[in-house]
Amino acid sequence: MASLISFIRERNKTTPTWLKILVPLLAVGGMGVVAVLAAVVAFVVTGWLGQPVPVLGFEQTFTQPINFPHTVHAGTGQLTDASGGLRTNQNGEPLNALGLDCTFCHRTVTTQANAGVPPVAQCSFCHQAIGLDSSPDLQQLRANAGIDGSSPSPIDWRRVHRMPDHVRFVHEPHIRYLTANPSKIGNPSDEVIGNTGEAVKPALTCSTCHGDVAAMAQVKQVESLKMGQCVDCHRDNGAPTDCAACHQ
Ligand code: HEC
Ligand code: HEC
Ligand code: HEC
Ligand code: HEC
Ligand code: HEC
Repeated sequence: MASLISFIRERNKTTPTWLKILVPLLAVGGMGVVAVLAAVVAFVVTGWLGQPVPVLGFEQTFTQPINFPHTVHAGTGQLTDASGGLRTNQNGEPLNALGLDCTFCHRTVTTQANAGVPPVAQCSFCHQAIGLDSSPDLQQLRANAGIDGSSPSPIDWRRVHRMPDHVRFVHEPHIRYLTANPSKIGNPSDEVIGNTGEAVKPALTCSTCHGDVAAMAQVKQVESLKMGQCVDCHRDNGAPTDCAACHQ
């Protein structure tokens, strides 16, 4: 700014009046263009792209102690092997994914703050009999469950989604609201889109904040779940937007 003023002063002696007026105008105009461009960039990143930007730390995922595939357990359709070939049983019949409901494992999601991750006993219910002995992940699972004679120990899952300590999040009211208002479900599945408006089962609401987990071999965070996203949805749906609703 200082250099601009001295520029104008310097020119005062020799420059015509119209240029003296034009130069500051251009400077102010330039700042306006920069502001508009910044607004456009911000709009594109947050609004139009809609997706969190991976370089900013979203889409995060972790290597888990056991590579638990949601695809096999919650997905549907025929299972594939490592090279992408379709799998069949000894009789040549297709081996399909289990299509388990999300709430089969995340049992408290419809009643409590936490969704809950199942204890190892719930895995060994099937896996003491099911699955290849040669699978390193299932060997680890059997060790945790104590099936192989080791002393039982919980699986130390790493959290993928985690709010900061000062934020309160509760699953129950969200699942209740979204099951009753399916048109508000985000990233809806075909099942929701084909729905004529009546209440849907809880598992169809999870996509709003977690994306299509049943299609993920490894869970990752796909929504930003930043304050802006929470507050926008609260405002649009008559939910509380006062600070104390979400901050303790
Ligand atoms: C057979 C049990 C089982 C079923 C069925 C299941 N999950 Fe999971 N889920 C788990 C386990 C175990 C973990 C922890 C390991 C991991 O993160 O992959 C988990 C992790 C998650 C996480 C990440 C939690 C975190 O750390 O932030 C989300 C989100 C999730 N599941 C959603 C779903 C949804 C949605 C469905 C239904 C489409 C579903 N799950 C079905 C067992 C299950
Ligand atoms: C309802 C029965 C059932 C439950 C409950 C279950 N699983 Fe599975 N799981 C299966 C079946 C079936 C397969 C596919 C086995 C195959 O590929 O031959 C499988 C596959 C797996 C695999 C892949 C193994 C590999 O190397 O290909 C892992 C890992 C696994 N399960 C972990 C878990 C964990 C951890 C839990 C508990 C949170 C769990 N399962 C709960 C039935 C179950
Ligand atoms: C309105 C957004 C929203 C919806 C809808 C939602 N979640 Fe979550 N979920 C979150 C947030 C936010 C967290 C992190 C919570 C925290 O750190 O306190 C989370 C955490 C989790 C976790 C890990 C921690 C825990 O609570 O045990 C699991 C598992 C999970 N969600 C499963 C589900 C399932 C299954 C559904 C559907 C039945 C679902 N969520 C629906 C936002 C949502
Ligand atoms: C899909 C829209 C939607 C999103 C996204 C959403 N919420 Fe909500 N939330 C609601 C609605 C609707 C209610 C009120 C449900 C009811 O009780 O009728 C609610 C209720 C709550 C409540 C209970 C408030 C009270 O005192 O009754 C808390 C806490 C909360 N949300 C926190 C969050 C946080 C934190 C996030 C972001 C991580 C979030 N919500 C994201 C729609 C949403
Ligand atoms: C609907 C839920 C919700 C409401 C209402 C809400 N917040 Fe937040 N807030 C969050 C979530 C989730 C985070 C953590 C994620 C993030 O940083 O955006 C957060 C983070 C913050 C942070 C930390 C930001 C940072 O960069 O670390 C501050 C400060 C904050 N909120 C202030 C407020 C104030 C002041 C109000 C009231 C005017 C408010 N919040 C209302 C959900 C909410």
